[in-house]
Amino acid sequence: MRHLAIRLRHFTPWLFVQELLTKPAAVGAIWPSSDRLARCMAAHVPTGYGLVVELGGGTGAVTQALLERGLAPERLLVIECSPTFVRHLRQRFPGVTVLHGDATELANLLPNSVPIDAIVSSLPLRSLPADDTATILAQWCRVLPVGGIAIQFTYDLRGMHRRPLHGFVERASDIVWANLPPARVQAFEFRRLEHPIDAA
Ligand SMILES: C[S@@+](CC[C@H](N)C(=O)[O-])C[C@H]1O[C@@H](n2cnc3c(N)ncnc32)[C@H](O)[C@@H]1O
Repeated sequence: MRHLAIRLRHFTPWLFVQELLTKPAAVGAIWPSSDRLARCMAAHVPTGYGLVVELGGGTGAVTQALLERGLAPERLLVIECSPTFVRHLRQRFPGVTVLHGDATELANLLPNSVPIDAIVSSLPLRSLPADDTATILAQWCRVLPVGGIAIQFTYDLRGMHRRPLHGFVERASDIVWANLPPARVQAFEFRRLEHPIDAA
């Protein structure tokens, strides 16, 4: 019985469902990201030398795909607000820096003077409070250099086109059917802010 309890604790869907029940809006999904979804997100990360920042690492499906794609662990920084997921991610990926923090504070969490190549976000931007989502997107504009890439998935298969990201142009958009539920992955390139917004 004790064995079963220990195995369940490390069974990622179980961990995910427990978090979902306590913080549904922050988790914003009914099941961990599938391998297909995670690989699709990782495929849009450019090869480079700067940091790749993963937001909302959760159980680590996307973290795993980024590493499997060849990203060196020291180039990956994961930011996650749930202490339970942070503990899990640190155990599962000992070579990766996992910060316990909030994506609304992104600029304060990142090391100065290290260029950011890409943001890979599993954040549930549609279920978070609208103010938080606006702050998070403003932070992306603050930390990404021109040409930096932001990758996001959404369960709205039409994508984020109805709420365009200020300062970004879409570079790729794919539907991943093998996910629960199916999702659209979009990759955006940061250009510049046409109308400066408060990115504090
Ligand atoms: C859709 S789930 C993650 C899915 C993940 N790819 C997986 O397979 O487990 C969203 C994640 O974002 C995290 N999150 C939500 N709001 C956040 C915030 N403001 N800052 C950092 N992480 C946040 C949640 O705790 C959760 O782990």
